[in-house]
Amino acid sequence: MFVSTVSGAMAAGPGLDHGLTLDVSGAHERKEAWWKHAVFYEIYPRSFKDSNGDGIGDINGITSKLDYLKDLGIDAIWITPCFPSPQVDFGYDISDYCAIAPEYGTMADFDNLLAEAKKRNIRILMDFVVNHTSDKHPWFEESRSSKDNPKRDWYIWRDGKNGGPPNNWQSLFGRSAWKLDPKTNQYYYHFFYAEQPDVNWRNPQLKEAMLDVARFWLKKGVSGFRLDAVGCLFEDPELHDNPVLAGTNNFGDPNTEFKYNDHYPEVHDVMRDLRAVLDTFPGADDPVLVGETAGPDVKSISEMYGNKLDEIQLPMNFHFAYLNKRSAPEFRKMIQEWDSNPAGGWPLYFYSNHDQIRHYVRYGDGKNNDAIAKLMAAMLLTVRGTPLLYYGEEIGMENNDPKRVEDVYDPIGKLGWPKEKGRDGERTPMQWTPGQYAGFSTGKPWLTSPDSFKSHNVEAESASEDSILNFYKALIKLRKEESFMHGSLRMVDVDNPDILSYVRSNGYGTDGLVVLNFSDKAVDFTPHLSARAIVFPQSNDFEKLEQAIVEKTLVAGADQKVIYHGGNTLHMPPFGVFVAQIRQSNVIRVHYK
Ligand code: GLC
Repeated sequence: MFVSTVSGAMAAGPGLDHGLTLDVSGAHERKEAWWKHAVFYEIYPRSFKDSNGDGIGDINGITSKLDYLKDLGIDAIWITPCFPSPQVDFGYDISDYCAIAPEYGTMADFDNLLAEAKKRNIRILMDFVVNHTSDKHPWFEESRSSKDNPKRDWYIWRDGKNGGPPNNWQSLFGRSAWKLDPKTNQYYYHFFYAEQPDVNWRNPQLKEAMLDVARFWLKKGVSGFRLDAVGCLFEDPELHDNPVLAGTNNFGDPNTEFKYNDHYPEVHDVMRDLRAVLDTFPGADDPVLVGETAGPDVKSISEMYGNKLDEIQLPMNFHFAYLNKRSAPEFRKMIQEWDSNPAGGWPLYFYSNHDQIRHYVRYGDGKNNDAIAKLMAAMLLTVRGTPLLYYGEEIGMENNDPKRVEDVYDPIGKLGWPKEKGRDGERTPMQWTPGQYAGFSTGKPWLTSPDSFKSHNVEAESASEDSILNFYKALIKLRKEESFMHGSLRMVDVDNPDILSYVRSNGYGTDGLVVLNFSDKAVDFTPHLSARAIVFPQSNDFEKLEQAIVEKTLVAGADQKVIYHGGNTLHMPPFGVFVAQIRQSNVIRVHYK
């Protein structure tokens, strides 16, 4: 078991006069799962680093950048699918779960990546596409070959109705979710592209074959999986039509509710079984499941932890990621809700991924994007929970959406143009240098970088003290301090419309204080609160903050860097960030009413 052990100096806390009720008895050593304190990083292998000049990234490219990831402070990488695939959905259509796609390398390359990562204490998570395979997967080829093939029931086959598909279900990627296969004159079901037939998890052999895939990778030494599209594993066996809503979607199809093909309760049985495979796998080192768990609300996502926290350890809260308003009250509410989710599960936070516009653009105002990127990073990396970064966010990568439909690769962008431009824009090559092809490849990359790569790249930002990259590094370093790793989270000044502020308290002598100005105005912040307060023993007021601040203080803002002027007020510039460690034992105690 990999554990974080905290002992010694930090554990000298008991006896401190602070107002928190904390159980510190016998807590001289804490053992917690590694993934609670790890920084995760998503890598889109096609776009991270190309080692052989063919314009697409590969496994050896990732290996060559492990030192960069280590230096950034990354503990675990999730690699999106790098398995053999016709690449209709850029890897999410898998034709062999237990091999490496030739364009990305060989299994020997992967083993080498795993070994090199291990040397640097970086863990690897694979992407596990559990809802569907490619239509070129041998399982599907067998299944479609005849109605009585033993694998027929591994997929979802139905007769048509009234000369058309079995019902009105639509694919998330446009048009009917059913495709007629002339060979047997039946329809198969596909929630995503027609080249991605859904598997039938109600079939015990299919289920066992999928669990074997998990075993294969665990045996190799991976540290878990990111589970793709968990919500749609089961559908209504009686095939009721979905309710039709008003209007049309980006593909020009009628809007429908996904009532009968989303969030069926049987998904919990599968998750428990998969989790049991992980938990009992011989020699596995405390592996973890991260889940793509979109749901109508936070409560439904939280069900994916399992009643006994025996399903997905880290479900993704897409409501946080899609909160596309730079609003302190909205984020405060969302963080509080997720932090106290009904399952009592450990929160995971992320903003960006390979399916949605990068948050540098979503939150940016076009003028202060770098400052805003730092602000958002400060929140992601200091809240209580596990942060998941998307490659390039640490250098402020922006989207480069296609300008013409002829340039689109992602099929949803072709079908939905111009309303839906597809996801190419957030998948452009990682920007390593200001040189040719952003240092990603010696050949022409499969996608083009935005012009901003010239300023926003690893080489330039490593050399600039004020860069987004150096801010991420400093934050990650800081979050590995005791209070940010283990501390509880208490919101401060809960009605403030502009400032999001919280204290991370571990009860061992130091707290983390985070003050984030979400507005484009300078704001003076005096955390004088009725509900919760930072109280100084001497004056019972928020003063002499400088005596309490220990050396690890991070500040940033759009127009100025010096934020604290002394006294009891923090002058927060537009988008200002103030993250400090405050020492309780000397000057300050933290008190919550
Ligand atoms: C997930 C993936 C997305 C993919 C889809 C179908 O949502 O993140 O990229 O297209 O599943 O596999």
